[in-house]
Amino acid sequence: SDLRDLYQQVIMDHKKKPRNFREITDANHMAHGNNPLCGDALVVYVKLNGDVIEDISFQGSGCAISVASASLMTETLKGKTLADAEALYEDVHKALTGDKDAVELAGKLQVLAGVKEFPARVKCATLSWHTVHAAVDNDHDISVSTE
Ligand code: FES
Ligand code: FES
Repeated sequence: SDLRDLYQQVIMDHKKKPRNFREITDANHMAHGNNPLCGDALVVYVKLNGDVIEDISFQGSGCAISVASASLMTETLKGKTLADAEALYEDVHKALTGDKDAVELAGKLQVLAGVKEFPARVKCATLSWHTVHAAVDNDHDISVSTE
């Protein structure tokens, strides 16, 4: 379908040119995330200024969906307040694991809506979201896993 083609284009674009793919040397929050099913792992760096995500980035290696999802996540969360970020995290969770129609998210998080067509890849798409959630919730480096 056209929608599926669009998702694939978005995924390949972000996989080839991941946005915010770098370390933040003065990050005040960070977390390591890994998917034990495949061994893919990434690090998310967050620089919080009060309750605003002033900067956010990631590094690591993973499949196209996990990298594209992380790239889109950093674009989505940069400049957001923690409250907005939490609301988005809840949306992602509901869209991928609950009843809420993922299409609602299509505008802002195409890759996540698209991944609904590949249910086996949900953990790939949520890896970066679990990782950023752990990062902002903790003031030390923490490891999370999708299992
Ligand atoms: Fe909610 Fe994974 S996004 S449990
Ligand atoms: Fe490992 Fe997707 S196959 S995160």
